[in-house]
Amino acid sequence: MGTELNYNYKIVKQFTVATVVWGVVGMLVGVFIAAQLAWPALNFDIPWLTYGRLRPLHTNAVIFAFGICGLFATSYYVVQRTCQVRLFSDKLAAFTFWGWQLVLVAAAITLPMGLTRGKEYAELEWPITILIAVVWVVYAVVFFGTLVKRKVQHIYVANWFFGAYIIAVALLHIVNGASMPASIGKSYSAYSGVQDAMIQWWYGHNAVGFILTAGYLGMVYYFIPKQAERPVYSYRLSIVHFWALIFTYMWAGPHHLHYTALPDWTQSIGMVFSLILLAPSWGGMINGMMTLSGAWHKLRSDPILKFLIVSLSFYGMATFEGPMMSIKTVNSLSHYTDWGIAHVHSGALGWVGFITMGSIYYLIPRLSGKKEMWSTRLIDTHFWVATIGIVLYIASMWIAGVMQGLMWRAVNPDGTLTYTFVEGVKATYPYYVIRFSGGLLYLSGMLLMAYNTFMTMRDGIAIEARIPSLLPAHA
Ligand code: HEM
Ligand code: HEM
Repeated sequence: MGTELNYNYKIVKQFTVATVVWGVVGMLVGVFIAAQLAWPALNFDIPWLTYGRLRPLHTNAVIFAFGICGLFATSYYVVQRTCQVRLFSDKLAAFTFWGWQLVLVAAAITLPMGLTRGKEYAELEWPITILIAVVWVVYAVVFFGTLVKRKVQHIYVANWFFGAYIIAVALLHIVNGASMPASIGKSYSAYSGVQDAMIQWWYGHNAVGFILTAGYLGMVYYFIPKQAERPVYSYRLSIVHFWALIFTYMWAGPHHLHYTALPDWTQSIGMVFSLILLAPSWGGMINGMMTLSGAWHKLRSDPILKFLIVSLSFYGMATFEGPMMSIKTVNSLSHYTDWGIAHVHSGALGWVGFITMGSIYYLIPRLSGKKEMWSTRLIDTHFWVATIGIVLYIASMWIAGVMQGLMWRAVNPDGTLTYTFVEGVKATYPYYVIRFSGGLLYLSGMLLMAYNTFMTMRDGIAIEARIPSLLPAHA
């Protein structure tokens, strides 16, 4: 009976450590490419260090390594706690850990070599794409297998979000990944022309919807009530916004293809669904925020709660800005400019980064047999350094983006362009330097987290928590 009675915390711990380590790596590459945009000579004329190869390395490292390892850790923890059973299979769970690390190492080697499918967020060549599909299906077996053998009748809402993310990513990845191999390191998409573009952005936007949103809402619904010691504000709202969110996201992809060869009516559908998406997104944000009602004072003394709650305000911001940018006339100004980069990073640094960091800070002591993190002050410092970093990053990119958009469309009375392209580049330079310093601060915060994690885990005993009995469903 022994191990059956226990939760599998080993796998949660492995993914937790991986989240912190990959966070440092991914953000380091982010800071490096931010520096390259300000000082292009930093590629040292070495092909592996060129911007075009390192940019996808950054996006893959932050989303698939930092982001998804965080989702593995939290979903494995939450599904066990809320179902009050051990994971469906330890061996399969271990396979997902080592399989996923193999994917990430393969990405870190092949992307700087220039091996790519050329599709954003789906760059990895076909052998790695197949490995991802296999690991993902095993992940689904472990997660849903655990749900099936649960001891609690009710399926807590955090698991709904994690479950939707796992199913949707399998679907998106397999459909968009379909390609014809030409050699071991080269393949061609199974789709062509505008269909290829549409499938790619159906994938891309739903990667935002189901990885960068639904998965993290799973964290919101478990870690905020736990850390605030308050029940979820409205359980009914959580279910309503769940269904509204997953239904609406699927149709919004064409807003990435405004003014392209995609039929106009398709672009309009994408725009309309993006506008509708504001409602379920804010439903989730409000539900998370209101969970704190009666406990707002805790924000003053609890830096973990600060991470969790401030992440929701960035979520609210990004999901207000996104629908605005999907309006065609606004998009004609914002597209191709750094405004997009500001939007991405208010979501990525503020929402995805902060909710992950808050949740991981919650987990680390519990996985190491400690009452709390080694230093709470260091968590607080991390919070402030990172917040200032985000503000510098996104404010500079917003200004740069709007400026670029306006400069590119400015015309003289005789119809000629007012500015040459290079004038726009020159005008952007100071903002690139500010963004670089903001990124550096954000990375410094991540390094503080790594140090604090190391100090907390250093002499921590490996604990195997016993299944508690009379805990509420979201225990
Ligand atoms: C230290 C922190 C970070 C820095 C300095 C940084 C920097 C950058 C830079 C310079 C770019 C390229 C911009 C361009 O092409 O003009 C970029 C792109 C991107 N980054 Fe980051 N980044 C950081 C953290 C993150 C995190 C944590 C995430 C996700 C969780 C993220 C997600 C992305 C995405 C998705 C893109 C591509 C955006 C697009 O194509 O529109 N970044 N980042
Ligand atoms: C209601 C929700 C949202 C809507 C309607 C929305 C809409 C948009 C729009 C219109 C664009 C610009 C497309 C273009 O001009 O190329 C965009 C880009 C992007 N958004 Fe959002 N957004 C939303 C929320 C988020 C969130 C929460 C994140 C999380 C990080 C996010 C991540 C991104 C990324 C990574 C891109 C860049 C894609 C690329 O070109 O590589 N979005 N979004």
